[in-house]
This record gives sequence, C-alpha cells and structure tokens, in this order.
Amino acid sequence: MIDPVSRRAFLGMTGAAVGAAVLPPVKQGSLGGPAIHLRGVARPTAISSANSLAPVTQALELVQAGVDTLDAAVEGVKIQELDPEDTSVGYGGLPNEHGVVQLDASCVHGPSRRAGAVGALEGIKTPSEVAKLVLKYTDHIMLVGEGAKQFALSYGFKEEDLMTQASREDWLRWRANRGPKDDWLDVPDDENMVRPTGTINLNVVNAAGDLSSVTTTSGLAWKIPGRVGDSPIIGAGQYTDNDIGGAGSTGRGESNIMVCGAFLTVEHMRRGMAPTDACLETLRRVMQMTPPRLLHPDGTPRFDLSFYAVNKAGEFGAGSLYDRTRWGPRRYAVHDGREASFQDAAYLYERAV
Ligand code: GLY
Repeated sequence: MIDPVSRRAFLGMTGAAVGAAVLPPVKQGSLGGPAIHLRGVARPTAISSANSLAPVTQALELVQAGVDTLDAAVEGVKIQELDPEDTSVGYGGLPNEHGVVQLDASCVHGPSRRAGAVGALEGIKTPSEVAKLVLKYTDHIMLVGEGAKQFALSYGFKEEDLMTQASREDWLRWRANRGPKDDWLDVPDDENMVRPTGTINLNVVNAAGDLSSVTTTSGLAWKIPGRVGDSPIIGAGQYTDNDIGGAGSTGRGESNIMVCGAFLTVEHMRRGMAPTDACLETLRRVMQMTPPRLLHPDGTPRFDLSFYAVNKAGEFGAGSLYDRTRWGPRRYAVHDGREASFQDAAYLYERAV
C-alpha cells in the first residue's frame, strides 16, 4: 500500500526543493555534446530490468497521478517481489546454499537525499518496503539479518516461508548435483543446472524532475549464507542524485561493488554523458577492475552485468557487458510516459553463440 504519510512528507519536500532552488543545467548527449538547460521540467520516465514491464508501468502511472517517486518505484517493484514466478526477487526468489531465502534491497529518495537498505533479510516478501521504512523512520541507512527482520516485524510485516514448490525443487536439484564426490545422488544430466542471478533495479523521474531509485533481489542463487551483493549497497546497487539522475544495476554484484557502479554512472552523467554512454563507461571500469580468474583467455568476462540510468530530463539508457543472455537479446523495460516497451541494451561484447 502507498504510505500516505510518506507521500505527504515527500511531496512537501519535493515542492520545497523545486521552489527553493534554481536547478543546475543538465547537459544532454554524449560527453562533449551540446548542453540544454532545464528548469525542473522532465519527461516522466521509469526504467528497469527486463523482468519489469509491469513495475515500470505501475511506477509511471503512479507518478503521473502525483504519487511521490520513491513510493511509486517501490509499488512497482513489489509486483515482482510478490510474484512467485519471479525467482530473482522476493517471494519465490532462489535461496542460499542452505535452502534459506535471503533478500537484499535498497533505495534512494532524490528530493530528500535519504537512503535505506536491508541485507540478508529472511521471511519478509517485500524487502523494498522495509528499505523504504529504514529510510523514512531511522537515522540509519542499512539494517541486516535478524535486526532487519525484527525491524520489519515491528511494522506489522508477516514472517512467511519465501520458498515456493518450484524454488525448492530448483534448490534440491542444485544440491543433488553440486559435486561429483558429495553424498547426494545426481539428478539426470539433461536437467537444467544453471546458477541464475536476477534482480530488479527501477529508476523513476517525474515531471518536476524529481527522482528515486530502488533495487531488490534474492541475490546469487545458492550463495554462501550471509553473502550480501551489490543491491543493498548505496552507490553500487542503485543511486540517485536529484540534481543529475538515477542509476542501478543487475548481474554479478561483486563486480559492481568494486567500482561503486551506480554512483559512478550518475557521476558520468554529471560530467555530461548521456545515460547509455554513462552505463557503458561504468562497464569499462568494471573490466579494468576484473581479475584474470574472471576472464576468458581472450579477455572477455565470464560473467554479465548491466546498468540502467535515467537523467533529470527523463532521458534513459542501459548498457550490459554482453549483447545477449541465454534466452535472447539483452533488453530492459522502460515507460517513457507514453507507453511501456522493451528496448535493446547497449553492450561491450558479443556473446559467442
Ligand atoms: N546483483 C545482484 C547480486 O549480485 O546479488
């Protein structure tokens, strides 16, 4: 549910911020390109990962109805967090190696310059909402583990089993096949034994140029218990500077943490890069920071990582290391105020087929 108190408070701050400050110029186009000067007018836009057509639609409809950007972003990603079919976030997200679902999420509210995050949260279906409550009601930024759960329970969240029949079967299949010398009998060779990652990052800007970002995930499937990825790290999993734009990431979190990728992407936009160029420049930095064990002999990465960005004007873009996933072209979801669509992400490498 949208929190009317937070909505009032955030809208109040939004109005004050816009009224009190003359917004700085935002340059558009690639680095060195022409700059246009905005006075708080943006094209409302929501951009997210490819599993998020419904979330960008929800977020955009809400900001167009006047709902605060953070409330709208969280309401958007909650659709996927509550969807048992999405094995990358929330309820039905794939568990750690012990069969326990541990969720990470974070958010930044641009107008108030506040952030909230939870890491390794168990038993709560919607970690994005809990991250928003950390932002709103505490002087802290991140709560983890049992403390994060107790915090959520104190606000009336219900503790629930986050495993579905399907995610339990995936985990049991992984456990059976994890090694040739373990005591578990292997399941048939032809069964899928991939190690999925998945996450949602959603960034939204409203017509006043106010921004928020949120990222939520169940993290790397079969991770070591307690592992926290990039998603709850402010500046890695997502980041917003209300003067510039918002950005966030999906994919191999450890590689993103090493470059503070969401923050870096926003900084590239601050220097005048268009969102797509900013995402690609961050990915180049990721490659500079990648150790040899994570590279193929030809220097291409053994992992994938994507960034999504929107600037204060509502320009958007995304970049990935690879042009395609195992299922097809690497895409992202966007709602540009007129319609929701999938777009192809820019990329650094073509995946050998
Ligand atoms: N990017 C999600 C994770 O690595 O946990």
